[in-house]
Parts: sequence; structure tokens; C-alpha cells
Amino acid sequence: MCGIVGYLGKREAIKILLPGLKNLEYRGYDSAGIVTLDQDKFNIRRSLGKVANLEKILREKPVKGRIGLGHTRWATHGRPSEMNAHPHTDCKKNLVIVHNGIIENYQSLKAELKREGHQFNSETDTEVLVHLIEKYLKNNLEEALKKALKRIKGSYALGLIWKEEPEKILAARNESPLVIGMKDGEYFIASDISAILRETRKVIDLGNGEMVTLTRKGVRIKTLKGKIKIKKPRRISWNPALAEKAGYHHFMLKEIYEQPRVIEETLRGRTSEEKGEIYLEGIGLKKEELKRIGRIIITGCGTSWHAGLVGEYLIEEYSRIPVEVEYASEFRYRNPIIDKETLIIAISQSGETADTLAAVKGIEKKGAKIISICNVMDSSLTKFSDGVIFTRAGPEIGVASTKAFTTQLTMLYLISIFLGKIKNIISRQVAKRMIGELRQIPKRLEVLLKDEKRIIEIAERYYRRNNFLYLGRGKGFPIALEGALKLKEVSYIHAEGYPAAEMKHGPIALVDKNMPVVVLALRGRRYEKILSNIEEIKTRGGKLIVLATQGDKTIRRNADEVIYIPDVSVPLTPILAVVPLQLLAYHIAVKRGCSPDQPRNLAKSVTVE
Ligand code: AGP
Repeated sequence: MCGIVGYLGKREAIKILLPGLKNLEYRGYDSAGIVTLDQDKFNIRRSLGKVANLEKILREKPVKGRIGLGHTRWATHGRPSEMNAHPHTDCKKNLVIVHNGIIENYQSLKAELKREGHQFNSETDTEVLVHLIEKYLKNNLEEALKKALKRIKGSYALGLIWKEEPEKILAARNESPLVIGMKDGEYFIASDISAILRETRKVIDLGNGEMVTLTRKGVRIKTLKGKIKIKKPRRISWNPALAEKAGYHHFMLKEIYEQPRVIEETLRGRTSEEKGEIYLEGIGLKKEELKRIGRIIITGCGTSWHAGLVGEYLIEEYSRIPVEVEYASEFRYRNPIIDKETLIIAISQSGETADTLAAVKGIEKKGAKIISICNVMDSSLTKFSDGVIFTRAGPEIGVASTKAFTTQLTMLYLISIFLGKIKNIISRQVAKRMIGELRQIPKRLEVLLKDEKRIIEIAERYYRRNNFLYLGRGKGFPIALEGALKLKEVSYIHAEGYPAAEMKHGPIALVDKNMPVVVLALRGRRYEKILSNIEEIKTRGGKLIVLATQGDKTIRRNADEVIYIPDVSVPLTPILAVVPLQLLAYHIAVKRGCSPDQPRNLAKSVTVE
């Protein structure tokens, strides 16, 4: 996830681009860059890290120009560096581009362009796009952009300037957001409203497959097929704080809602349903090495550890490789038995958690290979790993992990299919079916998120309680743990997650009319058993909040509240089931007057031991 902003008007562009970039920093801060065009000359300034670094460079080497583009980067292809910072240019430095998104087929396009003599200066997928436009550019920029975009697979929101037409910005969008702003002869583009809200409240949302030409005469929107689109601007009533959170009151809620999109991003370019193939380019191990894996140890902390527990079920089921899951904070002090056939999978959103880093440090001396599942490129964890598979959740600002968790689950699902195929446990046919089902998840999540009102009602009824129990079996157990963790950290209510069958060995003593019990009772092998657990709670007067599969009427007999989850194959249920629990924790926290984005005593990245 990156942020882009563009300006064409009567003022110095930098006055709009720089504050715009600062408001987009929540989308990524690996590097920042701007370009302005002044007297037929592009002025490009780029820097590693935050916009403040770019600002410093601009103080030393100021730029002029009334047209320009800006970019703040969240690295996906190419490590964070000045070289990989946007804007990127073509060979002749006549075109500049800024881009947010992922170009899936960039490798084959890059090879083709290199054969034709194009010179590349970065490791990014974006640079391919600007060279592709150069390839098709004769004298019509719109046509060249259209031709280039027809060859692109993936997602994009982009801004483009051509030196030959110094009073024009082109922008286009597919799957990544882009808004157009306007005010008295001034025009703007931005990844989201927060970047331009100080300037204008009059905006048009560019749709998927649409491109826009901004000139001093106005705005012209067309589809990539060439059909003109007339769109009425809408008026934004948000204040700047709301705008940064895209209208949500907290980052946590915004990030919960981002899940369908970031799961889609995490899957982008990594599956082929037709071929039943998984592509994990960063895995770092050869097929022969992967074939030899005899045991897997997954390690991580907090929510990442919970993802590991789901991973254990998935990997064992599909690849038949034995898996153990270890708290990194414990594992680091052990003297574990590890050999050359052991694979360590370290999971961390931030890649900076001290215990997780300590757990993998030095492991290679025992001969084991390390693969990390990480959300932050170039973070410390990635440096200790033989292979890194990036989740593409974008920056997670809320302290409570939400979208990072579901993208970790998505990656673990992909890894389990990948290893299952390598170990010849699952057939191509099965892989095809699993990939097909996984690809449906973003749509199912969107349906689920439409039910937020139901969760708000439940939060309203239970937010004054002091204790909660969360119960699940099988893959539902780690989700019970995660649901309880979310509630604890954002609402300060004591909550415990338990395997449902363990309840009778102790926790059932806590159950009375004051104890809400959240039970994951989704369709699956253990369904009948969990119905018995529900009966046991009911008999003791506990209040039952039950997560059930869509269409399950039996459950209503004993449940006080039912939250329905779309009917998907059992291994995929954790990705869906956790979302209402995130929402429940969020709404209970808000009703209790807590601050879900910055809960007391917690830090986003735990870099202490
Ligand atoms: C989750 O909501 C927590 N804030 C916390 O448990 C977190 O998952 C843990 O600190 C691990 O962080 P990491 O994934 O960045 O390593």
C-alpha cells in the first residue's frame, strides 16, 4: 500500500504535494518522492524513509513548478531504498510515474523490455510500467497508457506526466483507490481524500478500469475501452482526522474493513486456479530442500502465534509434515532439538519483535532453514531468514492486530497447499479446488462485514460485563484465543480463550448468569460435540454468543445471540470467524470509552524482552 498525490494549477505544486504526502504517510513510509515540471525540466527529489527526510532534501534543493506528483512508499517489490523510491522515469527521462499497487506480470514484461533495449534503474514493478508506456508512445499519451495498461495484470492507481505535454496529468485506476479533486482551475489526484482535504472538498471517485486526463481546461474521464464517463463531484463533509482514517473513527475499524482488499493483495500473483499452482517467490529454498523437510517449528508472539496455531492444523493436514508451534519468548531460551530437516517458520507483522528475533537468531548454526512470514519489508526479521514471504496488509497502525492476522492466515493456507503439492499429498485437482475457494474469501468477508449492526447490538448488551470466555475446537480454538486477546487488549475486560472440551476440567466453574461465553460452533467434524458444550453452558445459566454457519437453525435453540458466518469449507473458516470477534472487541471498547488504537500499556512493536 503506497500513497500518491498530484497537482495541476496556479500555485507552486510543492505546497500541495508535501502536506498531501504527510497525510498519506499512514499508507507507508519506506521512502518518499516528488516530481515537478518547470520550464521543460523535471525536478525529482527522493529520499529513504519518512516524508520529513524528503522535506529536508527539498529545503536544501528546492523545486519549482505548477504541476507535479508525489509518492510515499510501502515496499512490496524492491527493498526500501532511494533507488526504488518513486517517481520512476523512462529511458529518455521524458515520462514520470507514481504508482500504488502490484503489477503481477512485471517479471515477464521486464524481460521483454530489456530485450528491446530498455534500461532499468530500480527493482520495482512500477518501473516496468513507465517503460511499457514509453514503448507504445508515439504522439498520443492516452493511447500509449491504454495500450500499456491492457498488458498489465494486477492492481494500480497511478499518476503520469509527459514532458511534451507539460500541462497535463494522466491518472488511472484498477483495484487501488484514487480520487480526483477540483477547485477554481486547480486539479488534484490522490490515493485518498486526506491528502487533498485541506485544498478541496469537491471530489470524484475514479472507478476500476477508468482513466482521467487533467488539464487546465478541466477533467475528462474515460474507460480503458475509450467510453467517455460523465461523473458528478461529491462533497466531503469529513474533518481531516476522519479523512486520514477514510471516514472511520479509528484505525482499528478501518483496518478491519480493509481485510477483503488486503487478502486479495496478498493473493495477487501467487496462485493459478487453472493450473492448481502456488507461486511463493520469496520462499528462498529449492524444491529439493523443501522435499526434505521432516518437521516444522512455527514461532511468533501474540496474534502472530495464534496464526501459527491455525497454520499447524493446515500444514499437518495438507502436507503431513509434523508441526509444533512455540511462543518465541519461550523458544528462545530453550535448547531445542533441531536438525537439517527442520524448517523454522517465524511469523511477525512488524518483523521487529525482540522475542521473535531472538528465537530465530543462531538457529541456522544447527542446520535448520528459516522462512519468515512478515508484513514489513526490510525489517530485522527478514535479514535472519533464508526466505521471506510478505503479507501485503499495508501499514497496520492500530495496536490490535487485525488485517495482519488474516493475511498471515492466508499465507499459511497458501504454504500448506504449496508444501502439500511438493510432498505429493494433495493432487493438482485438490489444489485447484482449494485455490478457488480461497479466492472467494474477500467476497465472503465483504458479506460478513455488512452485518456489523448485529455486532453493535451484541456489544450494547454485553459491554458492562467484567469477564468473557471464548471457546472453540480444532481450528476454532486459536480463533477463540485471538477473540479473547482482542477483547482484553482493547477493552480491558478479562477474557480467556479455551479449547471447548477443556472447559469441564476447570473453567466451567466460572460459568453463571454473569458470564458471557463466545462459542465457535461452525459446521465441521466437531459440530455435534460443540453442541453438547453449548448445552452444558446453558444449563449453568451462562450467556451464549454463538458463531454459527449461515443457515444453521438448530443453534438458535440454546444461543442467546447468533452471529452467522458464510458457509465456506472448514479450513477457511478461521479467516472469516475472527472478523466478527475483532468487531465485537472494537465496539465493546468504544462503548466502554477505551481508545482501541492505543490501548494502555501496549506498543505496536514490542522491541523489548
Ligand atoms: C496483537 O493484537 C498484539 N498487539 C500483539 O499480540 C502482536 O501480535 C505481537 O506483539 C506480535 O507482533 P508482531 O506480529 O509484530 O511480531
